[in-house]
Amino acid sequence: MASEPTTSRPKAAATERGQWSGKLGFILAAAGSAIGLGNIWRFPFSVAEGGGGVFVLIYLFFVLAIGVPVILAELSIGRETRLNPVGALRKLMPGSWWPALGGLGVATGFAILAFYSVIAGWTIGYLYKSVTGEFNTAISASQSGEMFNQLTGDGGMVIFLTAVFMLLTILVVRGGINKGIERATKILMPALFILLVLLAVRAVTLPGGWAGVVYLFQPDFSELNAGVIMGALGQALFSLSLGMGAMITYGSYFPKDESIAAAGVSVAIFDTVIAVLAGLIIFPALFYADVELNTGPGLVFVTLPTIFNALPAGQFFAMSFYALLAIAALTSTISLMEVVVSYFIDERKWSREKAVWLIGSACFLLAIPSALANGASPFLSTFFGGPGDGLDFLSVQNTVWGTYSLSIGAFLICIFVGWKWGIPAALESLEAGGHRVPLRALWGFLVRYVCPIAVLVAFLYMVWPA
Ligand code: PHE
Repeated sequence: MASEPTTSRPKAAATERGQWSGKLGFILAAAGSAIGLGNIWRFPFSVAEGGGGVFVLIYLFFVLAIGVPVILAELSIGRETRLNPVGALRKLMPGSWWPALGGLGVATGFAILAFYSVIAGWTIGYLYKSVTGEFNTAISASQSGEMFNQLTGDGGMVIFLTAVFMLLTILVVRGGINKGIERATKILMPALFILLVLLAVRAVTLPGGWAGVVYLFQPDFSELNAGVIMGALGQALFSLSLGMGAMITYGSYFPKDESIAAAGVSVAIFDTVIAVLAGLIIFPALFYADVELNTGPGLVFVTLPTIFNALPAGQFFAMSFYALLAIAALTSTISLMEVVVSYFIDERKWSREKAVWLIGSACFLLAIPSALANGASPFLSTFFGGPGDGLDFLSVQNTVWGTYSLSIGAFLICIFVGWKWGIPAALESLEAGGHRVPLRALWGFLVRYVCPIAVLVAFLYMVWPA
């Protein structure tokens, strides 16, 4: 077992470990972690699988009732301990099995990175296509689908793109906390937001586009089932980077005297606005171009090219979109890798250099089956449930780690903060520097009762559907 880090870290050590330049630096980095393919790729296809408006409604409810409380719970642990998830829980509950929860988080981060980097690789592929002008002529939904299948069916190409993306992640995480991570997000976030607003305005005003808005916001309760509830829960956690300690890790670099609760809530708001904007682009475009709803992980990639030509300067928009999406994905993969890296640095005393290269390479190897799962390998493409309509390996990873593992993680984090470490201690950490948490009693109630019960009910409902 690694030696116990000193209980109160001397100032020099804390500085050496890195710290955000301030509250804004943290918000940008945490928003960078939260906003990514989860909003723009995963949200739309989960909405399509979950039956539209009813999924969105439950998702929004979970963001408020579970996402916001859990974000504060994770930040309180990180800020108090200034450690990675494993070390943090060991410091708060020495000699217990709670550090294993941190271990689950580290493993989940690693596993998510291993399929996330594949989708991020597709983004680079599309960026390349937009630069070479493949979207210059109006393309139909079937042509667009063809283009997607061509890319993902080329095994060598997707593996190469995944490798490129993993390498980019390694290079930024190697630079350490504020140098790499903060700098990247400062310009990106506002630019991405403006571009999404422009695209949403265009999409909604396309002929037939309004049907997409209705689909997104009008709940059809006959679509409601256990999968929808579990999916919405997983999506809320995935999108906010919760349930695996990313926010414990990011909170651990938070300056001691700033208001962390306000920062956490702003991150949740930004993230949700971006997801809804993405929905307002994809669904109108989908109805306009007559793309099939159940396209799965390819949904965004098939839908978007069909509208770039309905825009003046379509190529410019396409290029900007894929470039920004790639950077948004990068600020998320950075946080996934940082959780694993900070564990090996704090607990195993690896150097940052050694950690990024070893973890990055191992993760790349694990990503290969996911890279081959959308056409390149027939076996992996219908991995679960057999040939024909089986689920592909990537979708299975996405559900197992991105939904189940994060939900279990979030459940246990709530139990830990609410019942073990205790709300008063967590509040003390959140309120360090004299910033009172608004609605602090409500927060305690949500963490102790509402979140754990809601997650439990979602799971039980899955196991014993009504
Ligand atoms: N929240 C990120 C996204 O939406 C993905 C992520 C999940 C990052 C979990 C870190 C931890 O793209």
